[in-house]
Amino acid sequence: MEYRNLGKWGVKLSTIGLGSYLTIGMHVDDETAAECVKVAFDGGINWIDTANAYNRGQAEIALGKILQDYERDDYVLATKVWAPMGDGPNDRGLSAKHVCEQCHASLQRLQTDYIDLYQCHRPDPETPLEETIRIMDDLSRQGKVLYWGVSEWPAAMIQEACDLAKAMGCRPPVSNQPRYSLMWREPEEQVYPTCLHNGLGNVVFSPLAHGVLTGKYEPGQAPAEGTRAADDTQNSIMLDLYFSDQQLRTVQQMKEMAGDLGLTCAQLAMAWCLKHPAVTSVISGVTKVSQLQDNIGAAEADIPDDVYQKLCEMFPGAAESDAP
Ligand SMILES: NC(=O)c1ccc[n+]([C@@H]2O[C@H](COP(=O)([O-])OP(=O)(O)OC[C@H]3O[C@@H](n4cnc5c(N)ncnc54)[C@H](OP(=O)(O)O)[C@@H]3O)[C@@H](O)[C@H]2O)c1
Repeated sequence: MEYRNLGKWGVKLSTIGLGSYLTIGMHVDDETAAECVKVAFDGGINWIDTANAYNRGQAEIALGKILQDYERDDYVLATKVWAPMGDGPNDRGLSAKHVCEQCHASLQRLQTDYIDLYQCHRPDPETPLEETIRIMDDLSRQGKVLYWGVSEWPAAMIQEACDLAKAMGCRPPVSNQPRYSLMWREPEEQVYPTCLHNGLGNVVFSPLAHGVLTGKYEPGQAPAEGTRAADDTQNSIMLDLYFSDQQLRTVQQMKEMAGDLGLTCAQLAMAWCLKHPAVTSVISGVTKVSQLQDNIGAAEADIPDDVYQKLCEMFPGAAESDAP
């Protein structure tokens, strides 16, 4: 396993992290979830991503129980705040009130004294940035949060947050969590240059395009039972963004390229993300231990430059000059 500094900051993350959206505390039973965490740690993964909103707190609760079996300083724990946690007007967003209350609620659910990385899940246009920066700084000074970051914030807002934090003498955001994969390259255009300029690391989500980049979905065929694509309660984003026959055909070509390199398609897809200099780590969501074992192999995969370029051409999505 390779470990990288989170952007310019001191904490080191494994290049693969374990995620928990739709899986731990939801569609994956507790026994399998505990086994996934064990396999993750045994395989060198040292960080876990969750969110208060994942199944309205249930992901954090499940992880909190599992993590009691491990030493707290052996892993980096990341969670998020912003999404609705109740029906009241203050039960969402990035106000000082909601961030502070949810920080305490997350600490309880996770059964821990501090959050390593506290992420603003999305921007909150109804709260001044100064207010969010100040509460993150206050929680940091209280030792409840070590670092804070953002997720899916536009480049201009990331820059503004860095500038404001500096002017206020507060801790700046250290990370961004964007959607990023061969099938979603938008961050390359503005977000990555902004993060590189300001020293934020990117810990990227949906690196397998919800499983499409594993090559397990074939064009013209119905998705197999038990997959995310076959489940109407989980598949709306992936069907919208990634599921045309043309895209599935391109992934089948990629699967052959992966085979020629002795890799699985999932490993090639994750290793491709990790080649961008703005990316610190990819977050792996899994429903089975075998998937995690497969994905951990991406950390050791070294993709030749010509294969990297070929993949960029097969999945165009950003200006050529923006690619490394
Ligand atoms: N910040 C945000 O807004 C945000 C949003 C989404 C996710 N996230 C974070 O990012 C993590 C990853 O996101 P994601 O789950 O969308 O990632 P993903 O890697 O694109 O998709 C994961 C899904 O693909 C399938 N899969 C994974 N590895 C596989 C393998 N080797 N072979 C076959 N199928 C495989 C599994 O689904 P099936 O087995 O069900 O097919 C798995 O649940 C989440 O857990 C969460 O922590 C953050």
